[in-house]
Order: sequence, then structure tokens, then C-alpha cells
Amino acid sequence: MTTKSQALLNWIDERFPLTSTWKAHLSEYYAPKNFNFWYFFGSLALLVLVIQIVTGIFLVMHYKPDGTLNAAGIPVAFASVEYIMREVPGGWLIRYLHSTGASAFFVVVYLHMFRGLLYGSYRKPRELIWIFGTLIFLALMAEAFMGYLLPWGQMSYWGAQVIINLFSAIPVIGPDLSLVIRGDYVISDATLNRFFSFHVIAVPLVLIGLVAAHIIALHEVGSNNPDGVEIKKKKGADGIPLDGIPFHPYYTVKDIVGVVVFLFFFSAVVFFAPEAGGYFLEFNNFIPADPLKTPPHIAPVWYFTPFYSILRAVTYPLFGLDAKFWGVVAMGASVVIIAFLPWLDRSPVKSIRYKGPVFKIAVVIFVISFVILGYLGVKPPEYKFFGVLPGAPIAQLCSVLYFAFFLLMPWYSKIDKCKPEPERVNFK
Ligand code: HEM
Repeated sequence: MTTKSQALLNWIDERFPLTSTWKAHLSEYYAPKNFNFWYFFGSLALLVLVIQIVTGIFLVMHYKPDGTLNAAGIPVAFASVEYIMREVPGGWLIRYLHSTGASAFFVVVYLHMFRGLLYGSYRKPRELIWIFGTLIFLALMAEAFMGYLLPWGQMSYWGAQVIINLFSAIPVIGPDLSLVIRGDYVISDATLNRFFSFHVIAVPLVLIGLVAAHIIALHEVGSNNPDGVEIKKKKGADGIPLDGIPFHPYYTVKDIVGVVVFLFFFSAVVFFAPEAGGYFLEFNNFIPADPLKTPPHIAPVWYFTPFYSILRAVTYPLFGLDAKFWGVVAMGASVVIIAFLPWLDRSPVKSIRYKGPVFKIAVVIFVISFVILGYLGVKPPEYKFFGVLPGAPIAQLCSVLYFAFFLLMPWYSKIDKCKPEPERVNFK
């Protein structure tokens, strides 16, 4: 560094902790040296968050949250999205980056969460990182749900109708609650305006705050790794973990590799298949919202469908409350239960590498059930596998397996025959 730039840095450091922050979080943040590809998804989630915010800012410049009809009889909100697609220079790209970004966010976050499950990253002392993560997941679902109303297409309208109506199943407060959410007795311009407000400012602020808390908590305790070994337990004479390497430059460079590979796939979707066969942008949503015409089949976007299947799987009334209420409870519980993983897993080891066969089998069954639930959620309830196997009871079975994975974990993680955890991380 030249004396002038050093002098400038000193001037800043006397007023703002720039060098010390850089050191604490990057050049002297020691991360385990055995990270594998599963560790790309945290930084990729950050990247997608930035993509969503930046493209969102540009979309808002032209989008109009207005449910009234224009002179041509098309809702203004719907027409403004078409305007972005056809008239605004580069508008189609910004919109496809944002719509593909929504699905990419969930792909990346699901893989990121699954990594946590594989390596027991939620275990002591990382419980708070996990809880912040679950809250991020909830906020992300709210963000995606409200964003989906904005194009004011048939699926936007009727999807919101179905989900908001669910709240009315809650005893006592339900009907008023759904009225407050809608701001009207039906989904209307008032609903669109409040969803717009939440989607562009309130929830993103919450998300950014939670992500900051997530990373601050992570840097307080240090990263876990594929062996589940605490690297802070073995330090050299210099106080640096023997199995740790500085995050910068080692993992900043490694993460760039992940970013390039990710952008390769992301661009392929954006440029060649932005609708992804109706999975990322549903075909019915290219039709303007029509409160008088219910589409024959209403399905949420793919990332909600495992939870939507759990909701639909509950078909029995209980304790005088109808099935819809219990469906809502089951759906809510299926997300909230994730937050309790740190206390459900009683295994003596963290990583799946050293866990026993029972845990491994449980994870496989869990993943299969989750994927089947997701698949069935995009299909109508009367769907039959290969035209013969009825989907509804299979969804019920998979819902039971989903909950069993969590609820039985204290038992099977304890009785399982684990291998001893190594003293140091494996690095070849
Ligand atoms: C916007 C969404 C999210 C962002 C931007 C984000 C970001 C990150 C980053 C940058 C890391 C460090 C790098 C890495 O370990 O991959 C991390 C670690 C972690 N995240 Fe997230 N995360 C998000 C959502 C979640 C969710 C939904 C969960 C779980 C419910 C979660 C659980 C964890 C855990 C347990 C770790 C520590 C992993 C370890 O040390 O092995 N995160 N996150």
C-alpha cells in the first residue's frame, strides 16, 4: 500500500472499524478447510437476494399496483407487467431475472437447509443460526406469496383467494383475520396495494435483517463442516484453529466458482425456458385476473407444493373443528417443526458421515416423501399415479412420514449405532 492510501485507511479506521471488520469477517475469519460443494448455497442465497432486490427496484419503476380496468378492459397491474415485457427496453430480462430468481431462491435455500440437515449444522452451538434460518424461510414464503399476486393474473388472484380463505378456518379470529389480510371482502385493489407494500418494503427489510442476524450468529460460533468437528477445539500456538483457513482469499475464490456454475444454469432458464414448462410461471397467469371465472385447477408454485399437499392431506374433522382448520394447523406445523431440529436430534455425532443406518434411512424416506408431496401438490386432488394409484392416500402417507421424521427423531437418533467422530477434519 502506498503511504497515501495507508494514510486514508488510517483516517477511516480512526472513525469506522473498516480494517477490523474486514479481518474479523473475512481475512481472519477461519473456516474449516474441508468445505465441499454443499457450502456454496449460503453464498448463492446471498447472491439471489441481491439479484431479487436489484431487479425488483427496476421492476417497481414501471409496475403499477392497480386492480382497476384500463380503457381496453385489462387490469392496470396486469397491463403494466405486459408493458414491462414488451415496451420497456430490457424489461423482459429484468422481469425474467426476477421471476426465475424467485424459484432459484427456493432451490438454493432448500439445498442450503438440506446441507444443514446432513451435517447437523443446527446442533449446539448453532441453534440460533438455525432459528434465524427458519424465520428467513418463513419470510421468504411470505415474500414469494405476496409477490405472486402482483402480476394480477388468474393464478395470482385465485391462488391468493384459496390461501387467504384458509385463515378464515381459524376459530374465533379467523374471519376477521382474513378480512384484515384482504382489506376487503374479496381479493381486490385494496389487497393488491397492501401486498405490494409488504412485498417491496416490509418483508425485504425483515429478510435483510434476519440474514444479517444469521451471519452474525454464524461468525460468533464459527462454521460447521462436513465432518461435524468443532475446529475451535484444536488451536495452534498462534491461537488459529489447526483445521481453519482464512475465509478470504480461500473461500471467496471458491465461492466465485459456485457463482459461475450457478449463473450458467440460471441464465439457461432465464434465456431459454423462463416459464420452465409452467412450473416457474404458471400458464394460467398469462390470463388477466377475472373474479367471475374460477380456473378449473388452482395450484401454488412448485416451492409451496409440499406444504400445500400436507394441507390437502387432512380430510377429517376433529374435536368439532373442520378438516380445513386441521389442514391449516398441519401445514403451519410442517414449517414450524423445522425450527425444533436442534432439540429433536439426540445423536452423539453431528454429521451424517458418522451417523448410523437408521438416521440415514430416515433421511432418505424423508426426502422421498417431501418430493412426492411436492409432486402431488401441483396435481389436482383426484390425481392417480400411472392412472391407477390414487394420489390422495399417498399424500396422506407421505405427510405422516414427513412428521414422523421429526417427531421420532429423539428416539431413533439415540438408538442408532454411530461411528466415532474424528479428532480432526478429513481433508485429502
Ligand atoms: C436468504 C436466505 C439465506 C441466506 C442468504 C443464508 C446465508 C448463509 C450463509 C452466507 C452462510 C455461510 C455459508 C454456508 O455455510 O453456506 C449460512 C450458513 C448457515 N445457514 Fe443460511 N442462509 C439463508 C437461509 C437459511 C435457512 C432457511 C436455513 C435453515 C432453516 C439456514 C441455515 C444455515 C445454517 C445452519 C448455517 C451454518 C452452516 C454450517 O456452518 O455448516 N440458512 N447461511
